[in-house]
Formats: sequence, structure tokens, C-alpha cells
Amino acid sequence: MANILLQCVVLVISMCGLALGSRTNPFLRKDRVTMSRMVPDADDGICKLRVEIFGYACEEHTVTTQDGYILSMQRIPVGKSGETSGVRPPPVLLQHGVLMDGITWLLNTPDQSLAYILADNGFDVWIANTRGTKFSRGHTSLSPDDSPYWDWTWDQLVQYELPAIFQYVHDQTTQNIHYVGHSLGTLVALASFSQQKLLNMLSSAALLSPIAYIGQMTSLLAQTAAKHSVAENLYKAGFDEFDPNSKAVTDLLKAYCKDPSINCYDLMTTFTGKNCCLNSSTIDVFLENEPQSTATKNMIHLAQMIREGTIRMYDYGDDEENKKHYGQSTPPVYDMTSIPNDLPLFLSYGGADALSDVNDVQLLLANLKDHSQDKLVVQYQDSYAHADFVMGVNAKELVYDPLMAFFKQ
Ligand SMILES: *[C@@H]1O[C@H](CO)[C@@H](O)[C@H](O)[C@H]1NC(C)=O
Repeated sequence: MANILLQCVVLVISMCGLALGSRTNPFLRKDRVTMSRMVPDADDGICKLRVEIFGYACEEHTVTTQDGYILSMQRIPVGKSGETSGVRPPPVLLQHGVLMDGITWLLNTPDQSLAYILADNGFDVWIANTRGTKFSRGHTSLSPDDSPYWDWTWDQLVQYELPAIFQYVHDQTTQNIHYVGHSLGTLVALASFSQQKLLNMLSSAALLSPIAYIGQMTSLLAQTAAKHSVAENLYKAGFDEFDPNSKAVTDLLKAYCKDPSINCYDLMTTFTGKNCCLNSSTIDVFLENEPQSTATKNMIHLAQMIREGTIRMYDYGDDEENKKHYGQSTPPVYDMTSIPNDLPLFLSYGGADALSDVNDVQLLLANLKDHSQDKLVVQYQDSYAHADFVMGVNAKELVYDPLMAFFKQ
């Protein structure tokens, strides 16, 4: 019985991404499953899929991290008109969240989605894709079929991935970088800044749906999964890759949705909070491309943060093992009060966000209480939930216009 319960929770947490905003159960759509089996062609990257079709120039780039991961990046160097102003456009780096990839920034129409809007407003746009996602599955010596390929959490994104991406964009543009993160893309940035990393290549940072402390998130699904150690159990069962599209999960979900007491139609609200402003056509685009894999170990790390309300490195759950990795029996803390007070920060959070909870954001802001007032812009969107910040049809007016004004300061 306990096992069945556990499997249910596994299902629910696994489908959160997929069910994001869906009115029908995406797992019952056979085309989804087939699609996720396709191996992407090198010429068939995100530029071709979501950028060139709208008449924008787009370049595919490849970045190799010090720990061997080969990542794809896309660059939209100019706006749709193709005109340049004569001055070198300032680079902006877009970092998506967990279970997503760079398509996060390209889901709505070009006049509604951040990546195109930035290009049209004179920015040189760089889109990152985290290791393990569809277009970033390369490695110098490992394959995603190898267990060690998935031996990482967001600690390694802080340690290896963001530094490699920043260095690459900095080398290519010879300018300091404006950063935009969504969700986990904010956590890796905050953790980096707290360790004084990236700062020499950074102009400013915008954090949408900030994730730092997550102990108070209201998402019942995430809380329950964390409490029941769902990711830990998956890991023990040999699932190193957390693949929300995997057949095992699809089959389990089908069974699970047969239970009439379970609402399979509104899992998005259950998980992310009630998004106010999504377009159903955009949700279709979303379902064609997302969700994406991450390391199960990364999900465990997040579950630890939910349970403990802390921002620490991955806990090996064993004094000796922690000592081996960190030289101390408990994982080192990322101290948010160590973020430099003069770093220009733009922070936008939502009143309906079940993942980036208002109380947790207040906790982060309390850590930033000594931040120079003229370097910190905090925006509160009362009706916004987690996905509205990247998919909301009115995000340009509410969030992106003020964000660009902040960058141009
Ligand atoms: C919804 O998306 C479709 C397809 O991209 C677009 O044509 C339509 O204008 C969008 N609707 C709104 C309200 O933004």
C-alpha cells in the first residue's frame, strides 16, 4: 500500500512539468511519447525550431564545461529588422529553470516573449540550455546512458556550468553581461553571487520567480514529494535521469488518472499556482517541447531545501561522506547576505506563485536588507504564478519593459 502511494506521488511530481497548464492530460497524447524518443539533429536546434521561423537571425553555439558537458546555446544578435544602431549591443544571458530548456524564452509570439523582445530592443541575446536537456546532452567522455553523466545537482551548475557560459559569452562579446534567470535560473545565480563568482563579467541581474529559500512553498505536490523522499526513492531504484517523459512515468500516470477522485486536469495550478495569463496556443507549444530531463540527484537536492528551508550544498546524508566532499560533516551554506550590496538586482515575484512563495521571497529580501537601495528593484505581481513570468501574454508590459528599463539605467 505504501508503495502504491509512493508511486502515485512519483507520478504526480513527474508530470508537473508536462501538465503545466494543460486542459487535457498530455500523457494520453501518443505523439508526445514518440516525440520525446526522437534524437535531435544537429541542424535541427532551437534556432531552427523557434527563432528563424519568425524571421530573426539566430546562431547556434557550443560551450564545453570544465567537467566535460557540451552545451548548446543560441544567439539572437539583432532584432527582426536586422538593423544595428552602430553601438555594440549589450549581451543578455537567459537562464531557464529546472525541467525546462531555452525554449522557455520563446514560447509566446515574438512581441510577447522575452528573447525576441530583448533583440528588438537592441540587446545581443544569448540563450543557455542546461546539461541533460534535449539540446545539451553531449559530454567529452560520457553518454546520458551512463550513470555518472547524471551525477550532479545545481551545485555543479554553480561550480562549472554558469562560469563556462559566462566566460564564453564574455569572450565572444568582450562586454559585461546582463543576466536573466527564471526559477532555478535565479537560484544558481544567487548562489554564484554569494560566492563572489561571475561578478567580474556581470553588469546586472534580473530574477524572475526567484528561488532561494523554498521551505515555505505552498505547492502541495512538491511538499508531499519532498516529504515522502520521492526523488531519493527513484535514485535508489536506479533512475539517475529524472525524465518526465519516460515510459514508466507515462504508464503510471495513465493508471493514476483513472481514479476519478484525482483531478488530472488542473495539476498545473496544484503545482505552480494559478497562472493568470496563459494562452492555450502557447501551452501547445510548451507541450511539444517540454518538460525536459534533469538529474534525479538535482531533484533530491531541491527536496532537501524544501524539507530544511536552507540553501546549502547537496547533503550526502552521512557525516563521513560529507567530510569527503566538503571537509566538514554538514554541507556548506550559500550565504545570501554575502551577495555584494552594490550589485544591480531586479527581482520580480508573484502573489499566486506556489513555488516561489511570497514568504520565502521575503526571507531572501531580509537577507538583502543592506543592499544599496538604488541597486535593488523589487516588483510584486499580485496575480502572477510561476509560469506567467515566462509565458504570460501581458508579461511584456508588466515585467519585461521595466526589466529593460532597469538594464538600460
Ligand atoms: C495566442 O497565441 C497565438 C499563437 O501564437 C496567437 O496567434 C494569439 O495572438 C495569442 N493570443 C493572445 C491573446 O495573445
